Amino acid sequence: MTLSTDGLAHDDVLAEMAAAASGDADWRSGKTWSLVYNAGPEVEAVSKAAYQAFFSSNALNPMAFPSLRRFETEVLASAAALLHGAPGEAVGSMTTGGTESILMALKTARDWGRARGITAPEIVLPLSVHPAFDKAAHYLGLRAIYTPVGDDFRADVSAMRAALSPSTVLLVGSAPSFPQGVIDDIPAIAALAEEHGALCHVDACVGGFFLPFLERLGEPVPAWDFRVPGVTSISADLHKYGYTARGASTILYRSRALRRHQFHVQTQWPGGLYGSPSMTGSRAGGPIAAAWAVQRFLGSAGYERLTRAAMDATRRLQQGIRAAGFRILGAPTMSVFSFTSDDMDIYALCDALEVVGWKLDRQQLPPAAHLMVSPGHVPYVEPFLADLNRAADQLRGGAPAPAGSAAMYAAMAMAPDRSMVSEMILGFMDSLDQR
Ligand SMILES: Cc1ncc(COP(=O)(O)O)c(C=O)c1O
Repeated sequence: MTLSTDGLAHDDVLAEMAAAASGDADWRSGKTWSLVYNAGPEVEAVSKAAYQAFFSSNALNPMAFPSLRRFETEVLASAAALLHGAPGEAVGSMTTGGTESILMALKTARDWGRARGITAPEIVLPLSVHPAFDKAAHYLGLRAIYTPVGDDFRADVSAMRAALSPSTVLLVGSAPSFPQGVIDDIPAIAALAEEHGALCHVDACVGGFFLPFLERLGEPVPAWDFRVPGVTSISADLHKYGYTARGASTILYRSRALRRHQFHVQTQWPGGLYGSPSMTGSRAGGPIAAAWAVQRFLGSAGYERLTRAAMDATRRLQQGIRAAGFRILGAPTMSVFSFTSDDMDIYALCDALEVVGWKLDRQQLPPAAHLMVSPGHVPYVEPFLADLNRAADQLRGGAPAPAGSAAMYAAMAMAPDRSMVSEMILGFMDSLDQR
């Protein structure tokens, strides 16, 4: 396609886009179990209005847009308070998402290490951490040393201890992990980091705006935030369980001194003096404004209500999934979990559910299906369980698995040669613009 000479009318452009979206995942009907965190139409409307109002604003220059500076400062202050950072001392930045927050945490750790004379910095992290850490380590030239998880899918802290070296700058734990939704033993990891003179990052991209409210509801939540001595930074995504517009996350530090290592300054540029807090240059105003607006709209009572709704749906789902003969992996704390089967191909089950519109993420090591539950799923728990039972009965009764990706996932999960798997994924990404 080339750029057409004449443009189209506004309505025609939108009609073409609506048609293009007709095959997209139907997240409003609860069909997606990741990617979208639906808190209902009222929250969406506030978020959209705020986003639109600040659609063209650019937070690159906070002096030109004092409104955005205020929104960002207030969102970060409330996040720091929620995670029990010391007032005035715990600070952070808003970023475009979990991946950028993690990139920033690792950049900070690298430069903090360099300031101490560590020239080839290493980070120690359990295999369960999100791939954003691998990507960040790769981009930043850090050596990532992965350690196994235990039978409970949580970080094996003694294996992390054994992986430490004089070049270790950072240890990582998740609250919770994406794959099984389990919270690592953060007090033990942070104590190990402190003992070793290293930093400790907690990835709460998923849990950052959920676990604090779960705790307020009186549910048991293991210690994971700045109340734990030795935790030096936390990533917490607004665009997940903060229910704000896509493109918003926070990276928070225990101290202002630590955040300094994140910033970048260029003083020799003919274009002027340039200081940038995070990865991006221009910083879209929409997600910052929408985050502030949603937080103002919901307040802590709104977040508690949504947390309760998502947790109730989660419990009903887990109960129904167990009753249908499946096994939940580990002991998930919040609304993120995975399940597997001891008597059927779990990937074939995912394919069967996909035929009726449900999009579940397929996991490996071990093979499992993954769910992230939002308040928007509340009305869809029973329809999902009904479809799950129907699909499971059919497969157990010997019905052929529908044509889908089960064989491909099984082959990829089992392939001992991971470079072959890597080539397949590269080929897939490379081919997307050829379809
Ligand atoms: C635990 C965890 N960390 C980090 C990320 C990365 O977040 P993003 O996709 O916003 O970059 C995710 C995404 O699902 C996650 O689950």
